[in-house]
Amino acid sequence: MCGIIGYAGRREALPILLDGLKRLEYRGYDSAGVAIVGSALQVAKDKGFIADLEAHLPAMHGTTGLAHTRWATHGAPSKVNAHPHTDCTGKIALAHNGIIENYSGLRERLEEQGHVFRTETDTESLVHLIEAHYRGDLEAAVREALQEVRGSYAIAVVHADEPGRVIGARNESPLVVGLAPDETFLASDVPALLKHTDKVVYVMDKEMVVLTPEGAALRDLQGKTVQREPQRITWNLEDAEKGGFEHFMLKEIHETPKAIQETLLGRLANLEVDGFRAEDFGSVKLVACGTSYHAALVGKYIIEEIAKVPASAELASEYRYTQGAADRPLVILLSQSGETADTLGAAREARRRGCKTLAITNVTGSSLARETDKTIYTRAGLEIGVAATKTFVAQLIVLYLIALRMGLDRGTLGYEEAERLKDELRSLPRAALAVLDEEDAIRDLAASYGKEARDAYYLGRHVNYPVAMEGALKLKEISYVHAEAYAAGELKHGPLALITKDTPIIAIAVDDPTYEKMRSNLGEVAARGARILAVGTEGDRELPKYVDDVIPVPRLPWVFSPVPVSVALMLFAYHAARLRGCPIDKPRNLAKSVTVE
Ligand code: F6R
Repeated sequence: MCGIIGYAGRREALPILLDGLKRLEYRGYDSAGVAIVGSALQVAKDKGFIADLEAHLPAMHGTTGLAHTRWATHGAPSKVNAHPHTDCTGKIALAHNGIIENYSGLRERLEEQGHVFRTETDTESLVHLIEAHYRGDLEAAVREALQEVRGSYAIAVVHADEPGRVIGARNESPLVVGLAPDETFLASDVPALLKHTDKVVYVMDKEMVVLTPEGAALRDLQGKTVQREPQRITWNLEDAEKGGFEHFMLKEIHETPKAIQETLLGRLANLEVDGFRAEDFGSVKLVACGTSYHAALVGKYIIEEIAKVPASAELASEYRYTQGAADRPLVILLSQSGETADTLGAAREARRRGCKTLAITNVTGSSLARETDKTIYTRAGLEIGVAATKTFVAQLIVLYLIALRMGLDRGTLGYEEAERLKDELRSLPRAALAVLDEEDAIRDLAASYGKEARDAYYLGRHVNYPVAMEGALKLKEISYVHAEAYAAGELKHGPLALITKDTPIIAIAVDDPTYEKMRSNLGEVAARGARILAVGTEGDRELPKYVDDVIPVPRLPWVFSPVPVSVALMLFAYHAARLRGCPIDKPRNLAKSVTVE
């Protein structure tokens, strides 16, 4: 969580830092701050969005600096708790993403030594610790301080007496360095750098970096030089702009067909999925958080149906605390960002249990890609809206590819059947596009069902039960409507008590193995007076007899139906939230990348 950026160059640092910081705002937006080294150290911070900070900034001049946008963990979101934090001398400023786990012990000791703390944050202990070690060399002081720190961090540090230098370090929180002639940058994520350079070096755990206008020097925590070749980034600045859409979320929903196409590109003909082969494992365990967990749940159906391999899904935050099965499944970890702390923890636990691990992530060079045996990339492009959209669908596409490969490798899927499924996969961008063409009608339905609702219930069965869960998550996180998903067959075992004429029902009733049963469940709901909006298969003449309205999606073999259905539910949630006037790309209390457990 939180976004940090640092700059050492020859231009005025402030506009560069603010522009970069805005491109990291998806990582947290409850407060923000900036520190510039000019003739002295100048610090400004405020509660709220970066725009609030910018509106009240004094003139700040200097060519070295750092900035931070916060998602609070320790200490309420407030001006005083906002980063950067400074030491007692007011000469050192520090921005931090992560959690210093042993902060209270450090704080106690430093207070005994006379350091004066002003905030409730874990981070402040680190800046005082650096001060305690400072003897005229910031790099050495940071290095010594970090030996005493337990926890996760990506930091940027400057000192008033050392203009032209920014010290960075990382452990379990992302940090990337940008290289350009006469200037260097560091940031939590690539979008902050795209305007200035496509040449980057990823900082790894327990490494430090010293930025100067001339370049960036990487070292380990013992001070030993680390050599690492820079990489070229393929995302461009346009990817980080809204491109005429009102919100990133809408732009990204519209990019779903492209995300599918790109993720399939070059992989279908020979089913060459980044060298993946089904090795000697008896089962598959899919592990993830949030939206990626819903993709994992869909993945269970995909893998069992196509490859006939037993599969199960588990939340990453729970996986670590359960007993491993004796049979050592292949553990597939899904994470858009590749930085989710719970998922990284699960990856480590899976390896500790002796399991082979496979990552599915959208971010090249992310921590998850480094912590697993093998990585398959979704190629959805940059996703900035806090609510995951196109990347969810791209995760499903990778799961289809994996299932096909597994089925062929194990002989559970015949060649002809595989060819037929491949053709269906090729048709998915068109299917997603067909749903996008229904946007106007979906917006009207969102006005009718979602604008005034206080609660909404999503119903699905079988492969579309997790899709209903994902639909409900989208609605609740961006529109703040209380939304729950139920497996429709479970309704009569309790939740039916909640259904009244005022509770809109959003049901997935496409042509899948439970369609008939689903229709009976909808009858039970209709009998309680609820209004029902169904996502159904186009051309289905029976369904309208059971429900009030239908969003039609193209007819596909059931295993692929989650793709168009998801697009319909994303659009529904988006328009409901928009009509309610919600801050769609920055929902309250959330952040895109959750790097704390
Ligand atoms: C919801 C959403 C979150 C993420 C979750 C995991 O729209 O985006 O639930 O899915 O925080 O993030 P990743 O996939 O980056 O591990």
